[in-house]
Amino acid sequence: MIKEIENAPLLGRNSFGIDAKASRLVEFGNAAELAAYLAAREHADAPTAVIGGGNNILFTEDFRGTLLHCVGTDFAITGNTKNKVIVRAEAGLDWDDFVSRCINLGLWGAENLSAIPGTVGAAPVQNIGAYGAKAGDIIHSVELLDMTTLKESVLAGEHCCFGYRDSIFKHALKGRVVICAVNFALSREPSPILGYGALEHETAKLGDPTLENIRRAVTGIRSAKLPDPAVIGNAGSFFKNPLVPLRKAEELKERFPEMPVYPGDTPEEVKIPAGWLIEKSGWKGAALGRAGVYEKQALILVNRGGATGKDIIALSDAITEDVASKFGIRIEPEVNIW
Ligand code: EPU
Repeated sequence: MIKEIENAPLLGRNSFGIDAKASRLVEFGNAAELAAYLAAREHADAPTAVIGGGNNILFTEDFRGTLLHCVGTDFAITGNTKNKVIVRAEAGLDWDDFVSRCINLGLWGAENLSAIPGTVGAAPVQNIGAYGAKAGDIIHSVELLDMTTLKESVLAGEHCCFGYRDSIFKHALKGRVVICAVNFALSREPSPILGYGALEHETAKLGDPTLENIRRAVTGIRSAKLPDPAVIGNAGSFFKNPLVPLRKAEELKERFPEMPVYPGDTPEEVKIPAGWLIEKSGWKGAALGRAGVYEKQALILVNRGGATGKDIIALSDAITEDVASKFGIRIEPEVNIW
């Protein structure tokens, strides 16, 4: 059922806890309902965008237009291939509920992505990833509604252009489609991914690498390092880890032998953790007005209470300039800035 809210408060709808408003917020259950709404609406000229759990958005002003929000939460097994089970989840389902339900069914593939805040519909957009796993690796296809033609379609995972915190939904399809459901291909065969740092060790402390133990280990690592948005406003990693040319990383490694370096998307580049660059620049735990850098993970900017989007941007700009002047690397936001 469609629910239309005029002058909608967004304070409880964004994890940064920014007090902004949207001219209109429209909740819909599925693609057919949304298509009918869009066909009949009176405000077709106003900017229209999609909001999921609001976990990766920084509002710097009120949104003067219509925000669409999926509230459909269906979850069902819809198919079996030789090795895989296909699970369909509607865009409004809480991501961690989705992970937990896959684990309860004994399905492998989503367990390392436990405890990531957000909705199923947001996962493909930034190709959420953690502890060696990425949503794109388990996405079979994405069900879409085109906002202009009002036609429904299904885009195969291999055509979603998944990259590091990136997908076609941030580029060619940005502002054109609404993700209404996602189909996942999961495995019944145990396939633990334990290569990331402390994960193997933390899992072993709990016993065998079962789905439940991996989930508990991931949840434990996350809660030790990452702030709970219900307690302190934040949007997870504020910056992406920059991809830098190999040569540049080697130069830096001579100056800073302790600098961590991870493989990049191609052999010519590597990823340097932005958290390390920010900490090394002296910003960990620092604050600028009501915006701060989290004490336990410098990649995360936090709302220390009553911060506006502009306060957060002022801090992010100051950090970006400082890191650029110290390391010659320009870090970029991972969070969407509206
Ligand atoms: N580091 C520091 N100081 C800090 C933070 C990190 O020196 O304040 C160093 C650590 O010592 C470590 C390295 O940076 O050597 C990497 O840190 P960590 O393992 O915490 O991961 P990350 O690269 O900072 C990324 C993702 C996280 C994800 C973790 C684990 C991005 C932008 N962030 O963080 O994703 O949970 O890896 O896989 O890629 C998110 O997107 O919101 C998020 C939390």
